Amino acid sequence: MKLWGGRFKKSESKLMEDFNSSLSFDKLLYSEDIEGSMAHVKMLSKCNILSKEEGESILKGLQSILSDIEDGKLKIEGDYEDIHTFVEVNLIERVGQVGKKLHTARSRNDQVAVDFRLYCKKSALEVIKNIEKLQDVIKNLGENNNIMMPGYTHLQRAQVVTFKHHIMAYYNMLKRDKARILNAVEIMDENPLGCCALAGTTYNIDRSFTAKELGFKKPVDNFLDGVSDRDYVLELLSNFSIIMMHLSRLSEELILWSSKEFDFVQIDDEFSTGSSIMPQKKNPDAAELIRGKTGRVYGSLMSLLTTMKGIPLAYNKDMQEDKEQFFNSLDTVLSCLKVMSGMLSTLKIKKDNTFKAVKRGFLNATEAADYLVNKGMAFRDAHKVIGEIVLYCEEGDKAIEDVSVDELKKFSSLFSDDVYEFINYENTLNRGIKKNLR
Ligand code: ARG
Repeated sequence: MKLWGGRFKKSESKLMEDFNSSLSFDKLLYSEDIEGSMAHVKMLSKCNILSKEEGESILKGLQSILSDIEDGKLKIEGDYEDIHTFVEVNLIERVGQVGKKLHTARSRNDQVAVDFRLYCKKSALEVIKNIEKLQDVIKNLGENNNIMMPGYTHLQRAQVVTFKHHIMAYYNMLKRDKARILNAVEIMDENPLGCCALAGTTYNIDRSFTAKELGFKKPVDNFLDGVSDRDYVLELLSNFSIIMMHLSRLSEELILWSSKEFDFVQIDDEFSTGSSIMPQKKNPDAAELIRGKTGRVYGSLMSLLTTMKGIPLAYNKDMQEDKEQFFNSLDTVLSCLKVMSGMLSTLKIKKDNTFKAVKRGFLNATEAADYLVNKGMAFRDAHKVIGEIVLYCEEGDKAIEDVSVDELKKFSSLFSDDVYEFINYENTLNRGIKKNLR
């Protein structure tokens, strides 16, 4: 079913109809579509383009369609071209001829633009809610595990840190993710309704009225831009991609840490799976899936960027491709945030193992060099001396703190008994990370 046809001699081929139809996915926009239509009708009545009675009867019809969809009495299916056609055809069936006046001073181009902006704004807030939940989980996990662990660079043990400081790095990433989304919402917060097909309308409409009615800051400034802008979708897809990159890095760490090689954490049974052949296996599938699904969100971003790059102004049907990419990425990012929250809120940290790894990694070598610097040696010379001590320890399979002062003195006469206090792991943490821990 279509909203056009007067100028055609033949009907559309079935193949073309199926190819063109977007109802199977844009049905998700039903409530935004009805909300947009309601604001439009109120504006038409207010501007005397429709009579008060006409406006009221259309509004009643739209309201009944909304409640019937929500109560499951009206299913969004059938051979309608899109959700806009579905709502309009159903409206005319319910309220009669007056329903045909709904589309006065409007095009599906500004209609879909307003629907999708509303949907994107709503989705952005939903993502933010889930980011905040994950931040809470991370904060709790950190606070309950203010324990020592090795910090890494190049995946080689580097200096001692706390688990809390390590995991709070992700809290800070999520904080930026949230700020980026709020910024995108701020930028997209303009009303495209009233741009019509591309050139506005000769009716004396009130775009500020619909902007206010729909919760937008203001109407867009340019009609051609208003109907053909999809920056807001791209911005969210780009923000989602960065969130997924963060979740994927964290997943990678959880996968490593849960391996026997690291053995720092235990992922709860609730978020693990087994093997059909190897009875002993417990696999970190949740983390692997998050890492894997990152690819599809990046893919959506690249797909829509590519779709948009060659489109002349104003609306072109290419832009219909925005929806499936966005819906899929939104589902993905929401489920990954939820699964990560679940996995982290049940995660156990094996504090004895993280401490053992600290002991075995020469994680106080930098502080040992700092010790010599405090005693007057230049840092570059101190670096060399400690390097030689590390080599010596490796050969004898011991830690720096296990070497006696007499032995240390062979490397530098500046060593005395106070070195052990200085390079003690807890003390280095207290002088460093814990002092400026956030
Ligand atoms: N399904 C279309 C889309 O998502 C709606 C707009 C149709 N506009 C048009 N001129 N055919 O982009």
